[in-house]
This record gives sequence, C-alpha cells and structure tokens, in this order.
Amino acid sequence: MKLYAIFGNPVEHSISPTLHNFAFDKLGFDACYTKILVEDGSRLKEIFFHYRLKGVNITVPHKEWAYRLSDEVVGIAAEIEAVNTWYEKNGKIFGYNTDAPGFYESVKEFEFENVLILGAGGTAKAIALYLAQKGFNPHILNRSSQRLEFFREKGFTTFSWQDFSPQRYDLVINTTSAGLKDESLPAPKELLEPILQSAKYAVDVIYNKLTPFLKLAQELGLTYKDGTDMLLYQGILAFEIFTDFRYEKEEIAKYMKQSLKLANYY
Ligand SMILES: NC(=O)c1ccc[n+]([C@@H]2O[C@H](COP(=O)([O-])OP(=O)(O)OC[C@H]3O[C@@H](n4cnc5c(N)ncnc54)[C@H](OP(=O)(O)O)[C@@H]3O)[C@@H](O)[C@H]2O)c1
Repeated sequence: MKLYAIFGNPVEHSISPTLHNFAFDKLGFDACYTKILVEDGSRLKEIFFHYRLKGVNITVPHKEWAYRLSDEVVGIAAEIEAVNTWYEKNGKIFGYNTDAPGFYESVKEFEFENVLILGAGGTAKAIALYLAQKGFNPHILNRSSQRLEFFREKGFTTFSWQDFSPQRYDLVINTTSAGLKDESLPAPKELLEPILQSAKYAVDVIYNKLTPFLKLAQELGLTYKDGTDMLLYQGILAFEIFTDFRYEKEEIAKYMKQSLKLANYY
C-alpha cells in the first residue's frame, strides 16, 4: 500500500484526506492519505522519508520550505517559489504547485479580461504568475506595501490601500485571509464597494464559507464563488501526480465531487 499525507500547521481542519481516500477507494488504487502536523518546516523531508510516504500535499505555512527542499521543482512552481505537492520517484522528491492551475481551472467558466487580486501573500503570487502566463495582466492591491515588492519586480501593477486609484475590473479575487476566522473585509468598504459595483465576478479562495467579501458581492449582484472549486481542482491535479497520471481527470473529478457533497461542501 502506498502512503500519502498533508503536511501543515494547523492541519486538523483539512478536507484533503477525504477527497483523496474516497477517490483511491472508488478507483481501486491501493493507498491511504492522512494528516501530519508539522511544526518545523525545515524537517519536512526527514518526516517524509521517516513515514515512507509516496506523496504529500503541503499547506500553510510550509510551502516555501517545500520549494527549497524539493530535489527537482517542476513547472510554474519554480517561478512562484512555493510548492504544495511532493511526489517521490526513485528516492528523489519532485515538487509541484497545483494551487495556481487549480485556481485557473475554477474560473475558466467566467469571461474576464481585467483582474484585481486582493492580497500579496503566497496564494496571490501563485495566482498572479499563473494568470500572467496565460496572458492576463492582473493588478495587485494589498493592505501594506511591503509584500508588493515581489510583484513590482516581476512587472505587475501594484497598489496599497493608500495609493489605490479606482479602475474597472471584470474579476476580483480575494486571496487574503480576511474573513477566514473573522468577519472582516479584505479592504475598507469605501474602497471595495466601488470596485465590486463595476465588476462582474468575485472569487474568494477561502472555502466552504460565505465570507464578508462574498456577501458584499452577493448584495451587489455579482456572480461569485468561494474556494471550494479551487480546492477540488488542486486536489485533482495532485491526485494525477500521486498516481502517475494513470486515471482520467473526469473520473477523479467525479469521485472527488462526490466526497465533497458527502462532506456538505457543495
Ligand atoms: N481554496 C484553496 O484551495 C486554497 C489554496 C491555498 C490557499 N487558500 C487560502 O488562501 C488564503 C491566503 O493564504 P496565503 O498562504 O496566501 O496567506 P499569506 O501568505 O499569509 O498572505 C496573507 C495576505 O492576506 C493579507 N491579509 C491578512 N489579513 C488581512 C486583513 N484582515 N485585511 C486585509 N488583508 C489581510 C496580508 O496582507 P499584509 O501583507 O498587509 O499582511 C497578505 O497579503 C488562506 O485563507 C488560505 O486558506 C485556499
């Protein structure tokens, strides 16, 4: 039997074991996926080999450590400098980022050109770089200016709350953790409301919750969604990697969606 896990801190809330175990079972793949609390990110590799794991997902706050400790970084993860999926092959750890393509998959149904990303953390980096690779030019708006340096160096247009000049966006994405454990908006209401009033779509990466950001979007009549689809699609991509691409994406999606329904995520 092959063993898989999610590394994070905290990790007890993660739905990933449910998604992967359900699909392993339905597809007849002899494997089990569990949660492992990791406090010290520098020990990720040691823990991975200690438990003889075949693959892991890595979540907050260890994605940068996972990037640094990968033997080989594959695809967009190298540019993002953050890894959320490890797969072991012949004793070597291959690192991927499935958050970014997972997010893109989740908004493919929308028709948009101009994008505003709220927040400048790890998730914002992943989404901004992936959208740029797909030909978009997302603008970044963050509470403070410190984290905007990374984006400016890469040529993105950036704003802090203090220097934002209102523009028209089709799609507004909340990548901040505002609303995750509190009821705060990702930016002051007087700044956010005019942005949303002229937008078409609002997406929050926080999942299984109607955040204050999404509530405001709902009140203003926008099409909106939370981060459940992003979670689903990053999981499907990780599953493909974990099983060496032996199953059809549609089949994995079918079972993972079923497991989310059973867990009341849909
Ligand atoms: N759906 C999925 O599959 C999925 C995947 C990955 C992540 N996520 C979610 O994405 C969120 C962000 O994760 P991350 O790793 O990118 O976090 P991070 O690197 O810690 O970045 C957090 C960002 O949020 C901003 N922020 C925090 N609290 C705020 C507040 N009260 N008001 C305004 N801005 C605030 C910070 O601004 P400052 O720079 O000013 O501090 C920073 O830009 C988390 O909720 C995580 O659960 C979801």
